Amino acid sequence: MEEFYTMHEFNEAVAVIRRHADMQPRVGMILGSGLNALAEAVEDATVIPFADIPHFPISTVEGHSGRLILGLLEGVPVVVMQGRAHYYEGYSMGRVGLPVRVMRLLGCELLIVTNAAGGLNMTYRAGDVMIIRDHINLIGMAGLNPLRGPNLAEFGPRFPSMNDAYDPALRRLAQEIALEAAIPAHLGVYICLAGPSFETVADVRFLRLIGADAVGMSTVPEVITARHSGMRVLGLSGISNTLVGEEGAPPPNHEEVLAAGRVLTPRLETIIRGVLHRL
Ligand code: HPA
Repeated sequence: MEEFYTMHEFNEAVAVIRRHADMQPRVGMILGSGLNALAEAVEDATVIPFADIPHFPISTVEGHSGRLILGLLEGVPVVVMQGRAHYYEGYSMGRVGLPVRVMRLLGCELLIVTNAAGGLNMTYRAGDVMIIRDHINLIGMAGLNPLRGPNLAEFGPRFPSMNDAYDPALRRLAQEIALEAAIPAHLGVYICLAGPSFETVADVRFLRLIGADAVGMSTVPEVITARHSGMRVLGLSGISNTLVGEEGAPPPNHEEVLAAGRVLTPRLETIIRGVLHRL
């Protein structure tokens, strides 16, 4: 089913959120698989189930709770998506990107997005953080772009640039904080596949060959949507497993993704708190 949203639908979602929470968030955050705990740290929190917000996609995946949380983190007004929906769940790309536009309309100028990702770079270990330097929109090259359909000029231009999609100053800030806190962190390229099947051994070799350091099934649609509307973006991948690309190597599984989340959550929390603190 084709789903192209109009301003009317975005505004319906905004109106319901504003009815619950009388605040203007500056920063939007999307927390990925197994990385949801940071949402619990939000102070003066207003919690809205996604199911209560018109048009919001609802995640069906274990490890993704579906709640929108507005409040303060490090004194900064934030709106946090605890859990996200993915294309592989059956939502259109436009619907996956919808919450980002709602965040923009609520007043957010900055998006912090986290995900769990498989490490392709041979130097990465499970539990490491990758600060996203850039992405490869493989899923978009296959025709799946959240901006497909009529352009809404209220948000941005028909042909938005994706140069420096991941804000260089925010990247540097995240690197500084990771270094100070002795968190193993890399700067790397994220590649988005549709999923939900994991990669074959040949896929892994291909993805490495074309310059990707980590692979996942999210983030790129949300980042494109955010950049279209001029939001600055910080992207953080938690490396939940490594992909060897050799026959006979153990396959990734969702349980190890969630288990790595327990190591990664405090690391990502430290970086995110540090960034918010120094904004
Ligand atoms: N592949 C794709 N997506 C992922 C992986 C992986 O190995 N780990 C976490 N998300």
